[in-house]
Amino acid sequence: MNKEQWGSRVGLVFAMAGNAVGLGNFLRFPVQAIQNGGGAFIIPYLVSFLLMGIPLLLVEWSIGRFGGAFGHHATPFQFYRMDKRTIWKYIGVFGLFTNIAVAAYYCYLESWTITWVFHSVARTFQHMSSGEIATFFDSYVNLDSQAIPILVWILCLLLNTFILSQGLDGGVEKVAKIGMPLLILFGIFLAIKAFLIRSGEEGAINDGSVGMNFLWTPDFSSIWSAKVWLAAAGQIFFTLSLGMGSIHCYASYVAKNDDVALNGMSAGWMNEFVEVVLGSSIIIPISVGYLGIDQVIELTKQGGLGLGFKTLPFLFEQWGPIMASFAGVFWFGLLFFAGITSSLAMGTPVMGFFMDEFNWKRKSSAWFFGLLIFVFGLPTVLFYRYGVFDEYDYWAGTVALVTLALFEIILFAWVFGMDKGWEEIKRGSDIRLPIIYRYIIKFVTPVFLLVIFIGSLPGIWEKIINKDIHAKLDAATDPLIIDELNKTLFFVDGSRILLVLLYVGICFIVYKAYRKNYAK
Ligand code: ALA
Repeated sequence: MNKEQWGSRVGLVFAMAGNAVGLGNFLRFPVQAIQNGGGAFIIPYLVSFLLMGIPLLLVEWSIGRFGGAFGHHATPFQFYRMDKRTIWKYIGVFGLFTNIAVAAYYCYLESWTITWVFHSVARTFQHMSSGEIATFFDSYVNLDSQAIPILVWILCLLLNTFILSQGLDGGVEKVAKIGMPLLILFGIFLAIKAFLIRSGEEGAINDGSVGMNFLWTPDFSSIWSAKVWLAAAGQIFFTLSLGMGSIHCYASYVAKNDDVALNGMSAGWMNEFVEVVLGSSIIIPISVGYLGIDQVIELTKQGGLGLGFKTLPFLFEQWGPIMASFAGVFWFGLLFFAGITSSLAMGTPVMGFFMDEFNWKRKSSAWFFGLLIFVFGLPTVLFYRYGVFDEYDYWAGTVALVTLALFEIILFAWVFGMDKGWEEIKRGSDIRLPIIYRYIIKFVTPVFLLVIFIGSLPGIWEKIINKDIHAKLDAATDPLIIDELNKTLFFVDGSRILLVLLYVGICFIVYKAYRKNYAK
């Protein structure tokens, strides 16, 4: 049996915070905030955190510890222990599926940060215009005539696999204990630099505070916008790694009577500190300081990743060669640590599953996970330009999270039952949780999730029928563009088939494990 444990409580909280703090905090959050009106985004975001984020953190930590006591470190059999009906095992499959599918594209993004650290040291961007840096980035990610992106990606996969093969305290916990403090240090340095931007100095057109005011001036008009609520709730899911299965896995290595409430709160609040305080204090004030709000809003319309990888390296150059190098290394180094502590968390449930159910050794499980990420990640790398990366992000990084969370809260609060559930949350707790959370978990969070889910259905349908791509095809006259769009359709549909096959494949393996270990 898999008897691994966390080395220390500090290590666990750092690892769990590292799981949550990721590229989502520094790249996704600012872009979502800008696209959804700055101050208009913050209220739905904070409400989603309190009414959905915190309750789900408590639920996922409790399910994880509960299943861990039976020796289960992945959701399929953790859910099975809570209710033996067939459906729950296969809902639990999402907790393996999402980790594999998200890690598959996430590691490609993580690998860019390694290359961009290198270019910051090598001063590659020194004499480039902003347009040239943008072209440089596009040709890198689209693999125009280069093998380097593939090599760095493979290096990144090997690094993840190697660390995972070293175990929880020897690998994951060590990286989190080094990576998290460094990340916070780098973040504070950049945030101070951003705060000190003065209009008229070094080419800036606004003070650093202008971007911050855009974000922090509340705008109540958004309370009625379904789009803003969906974006805010989606960000809470992604940033806290909810509905993924990775929290369940980390919590399953906690002893049966050890606290989950305070641990869960600490990791969750640490993530929010990093996101709300640091995540919002770098990209937004720097880009608004040099470009102004309107241009920044325009830039985010051309894709979410551009600000971080194209715009910031150009703006850092306004600070002179030495500061530009430092800022580049700090920014992309911070992104790297944020990314790797999250991608490692995506590996652990998959490894845990094979170790628990098929008695695999830790090393073989780690290498198998590496292989899976290679196979499922390859299309996102090779066909990035045809939208495969975004497709994975949509289905696995957005829809699957909400789906798992909706089912698990029903399982926890209504099937397992809130009496037992509340006892689970409270057992060994080092804090007194407000009793109101018992009712929030039972009534408010499920309704909230149901509304989010139903509200997402029209968007999901438009995605299924490829409405956007067909609209572009109808409008296109240039044969080259038509050809590109047809290829995009082909790859987008192909990647969906691949994801369905992944889900069905895992169901089959879970079925085999069930027959082997539990069926009478
Ligand atoms: N929670 C991780 C992130 O924010 C996945 O990137």
